[in-house]
Amino acid sequence: MDFVYGPGKNHLFVPGPVNIPEPVIRAMNRNNEDYRSPAIPALTKTLLEDVKKIFKTTSGTPFLIPTTGTGAWESALTNTLSPGDRIVSFLIGQFSLLWIDQQQRLNFRVDVIESEWGRGADLDALASKLEADRSHTIKAVCIVHNETATGVTNDLAAVRKLLDGYRHPALVLVDGVSSICAIDFRMDEWGVDVALTGSQKALSMPTGMGIVCASPKAMEAAKTAKSVRVFFDWNDYLKFYKLGTFWPYTPSIQLLYGLRTALDLLFEEGLDNVIARHSRLGKATRLAVEAWGLKNCTQREDWFSDTVTAVVVPPYINSADVVKRAWTRYNLSLGLGLNKVAGKVFRIGHLGNLNELQLLGCLSGVEMVLRDVGYPVKLGSGVAAAAAHLRNTTPMITSRI
Ligand SMILES: Cc1ncc(COP(=O)(O)O)c(C=O)c1O
Repeated sequence: MDFVYGPGKNHLFVPGPVNIPEPVIRAMNRNNEDYRSPAIPALTKTLLEDVKKIFKTTSGTPFLIPTTGTGAWESALTNTLSPGDRIVSFLIGQFSLLWIDQQQRLNFRVDVIESEWGRGADLDALASKLEADRSHTIKAVCIVHNETATGVTNDLAAVRKLLDGYRHPALVLVDGVSSICAIDFRMDEWGVDVALTGSQKALSMPTGMGIVCASPKAMEAAKTAKSVRVFFDWNDYLKFYKLGTFWPYTPSIQLLYGLRTALDLLFEEGLDNVIARHSRLGKATRLAVEAWGLKNCTQREDWFSDTVTAVVVPPYINSADVVKRAWTRYNLSLGLGLNKVAGKVFRIGHLGNLNELQLLGCLSGVEMVLRDVGYPVKLGSGVAAAAAHLRNTTPMITSRI
């Protein structure tokens, strides 16, 4: 047996990688194909066109890159900036920390704006920097839309408003790894210059594809950006786009078919309905946490994330024990607390192809685990609060009426 067996289904509630729906699994269960045959370019063309819809852009140029979110970060940075360029970056949790580390290792001059973990990007600090930067030395603002480590969603419209208010031309580079396809995201409307995500998050696919989209301004910046790039060079892609063959190197045939089906499922449900579903699941999770008498790591309501909830445990409990117990006893996978919040929070990921009853199963598992580790939660309390909300808000499945 090549896996650690547990009876029934594993309840996968880490905030990525997430459940892959059956139609996507089936679409990927196929042989390799010649990617230079007419079939794969024809498929790729539909993917490039349709993937723009998940970014809500008509003017962006998309790239489907064999990589993960981390590679997508590198693609965004190296194609638009030159070594020594000054950038502003917000540190609010583990993933923004890792992106900043990459920015520094790529030799950009990074002005880090740090917030307490559990808080969102400090936009007042950004305003001060923009105000002081009359000569426009800041070339880019980098922001993680949804910080997966703490369950904090940043207000991108407010970032755009600030830049416009100061008539500042800095590029806006956005990590949408745990937001795109789950939380409202509007590339064109918010003037995002590079947006990116990874296939294993809300797209509900296997890991392995970075999806990056560049605005016309970012494409222009790419013409003069001097950062060394080879594998991630957008120019190589553009050459093959022009030829109509699309691929500078071998794509994963299986992931392409998987993406086709993943997009079809999203469009069948309707992107806005998908976002509303995440909002419902997020709210239900937060109501459960409240009913348990526990705190959300996220400090303000307007930062609450609809894809991940980081739950703060009482000081006498180690959150890693919650995660371990959930997996060992109930076949439930929860997210660990990372770095600064290790031991203090556990995370419930509620993103991707997921429905209300699955979430209730997870919440009931969390209640049992909490009792197991010595927290006196009333069994059923969180489930009841979540169910009441879900019963009032869950719509009919449109394809079944
Ligand atoms: C917000 C965010 N950005 C970037 C990453 C890194 O992505 P990957 O692990 O696919 O490289 C993650 C991973 O969880 C993430 O949550």
